[in-house]
Amino acid sequence: MLTVEGVNLAEVAAIARQRLDPVHWDFFAGGAGDERTLRGNEEAFARRRLVPRILRGGGERDLRTTVLGTELSMPVLVAPTAFHLLAHPGGETATARGTAGAGTAMVVSMAATQGVEEIAAAGAALWFQLYPQPDLEFTAAVVRRAEEAGCRALVVTVDSPVFGRRERDLRHGFLDLPAGLACENMRDAHGRVRDIVMDAGLDWSRIAWLRGRTTLPIVLKGVLHPADALLAVEHGVDALIVSNHGGRQLDGAVATLEALAPVAGAVGGRIPVLLDGGVRRGADVVVALALGARAVLIGRPVIWGLAAGGSDGVRHVLELLRAELDAALALCGVARPAELTADLVAPGSRR
Ligand code: FNR
Repeated sequence: MLTVEGVNLAEVAAIARQRLDPVHWDFFAGGAGDERTLRGNEEAFARRRLVPRILRGGGERDLRTTVLGTELSMPVLVAPTAFHLLAHPGGETATARGTAGAGTAMVVSMAATQGVEEIAAAGAALWFQLYPQPDLEFTAAVVRRAEEAGCRALVVTVDSPVFGRRERDLRHGFLDLPAGLACENMRDAHGRVRDIVMDAGLDWSRIAWLRGRTTLPIVLKGVLHPADALLAVEHGVDALIVSNHGGRQLDGAVATLEALAPVAGAVGGRIPVLLDGGVRRGADVVVALALGARAVLIGRPVIWGLAAGGSDGVRHVLELLRAELDAALALCGVARPAELTADLVAPGSRR
């Protein structure tokens, strides 16, 4: 029996807010600029309405799905987010334990505060998120480390040529981890922790370079434009994540749900398309899948679960979403995620 409170993700967030240092709450909750994109992600889901089917006799639902060979108990993964030790003393390991309990996968952030080997010991299926560094040798070493720890895919974040201007953090002067904490996966051969460099020089040649250095599937995270989705397919990328970094990079960027259908259209089913940003309800997962996503990822809700109750809190958040997703599918007359189709979403739906 899980003892973490909150009957939905918003209630878990409210509990987390009470527990967290307000500066850290702002770091996790905030976005860039006026936070238009941050709000826009959730608003895009809130505008959508479902048009359910009836009398289809689907019976028990089966939420399982497989993405890039990783088996998931439902089409919801844990997005890469930084600094979990600021949310809970269990850190990323606790997140991984909660994820394993829910039978899904976690994308470990390059800005994790624990080493990927330690996180892997918690038993969850892991993918590793990479910000390619200008130092190619160091980048290759990080990739090798993730492979050796058993990560099953490489998620390359490509929406961050520079660091987004997050005004809550600027106001608080929160620009670095407190003493005693470090990005443990940024240690070099001498054991020194390097700073993560946002590389404005990154281009498609680096994706080709990575392709030649790992046998892991490569997932591009941060695709919004359909022309880039097409280029990704041409460059042999294995999957895409439609993402605007949870509104933390380009304020004014399109809501991910609005970008999804054009990207999925350009990809034409050749590789899986995932989405993150603003997913807070099981019905949001239904809408995203109906409009072309194979699965979604959640960022902040996982941190709220972690802050509210460590690994049990993370599990609780995932189980809440599972229960909502299961009910929403049943009420739409759908038994399996793969059966969701765009006709179940009202065109141009509004509040
Ligand atoms: C992030 N995100 C992120 N992405 C990434 O590729 N590497 C990272 O280190 C981080 N760090 C990070 C920290 C925090 C506090 C947040 C909130 C987000 C972005 C993340 O993977 C994801 O795209 C968004 O969080 C999805 O939006 P929601 O679910 O938070 O609305």
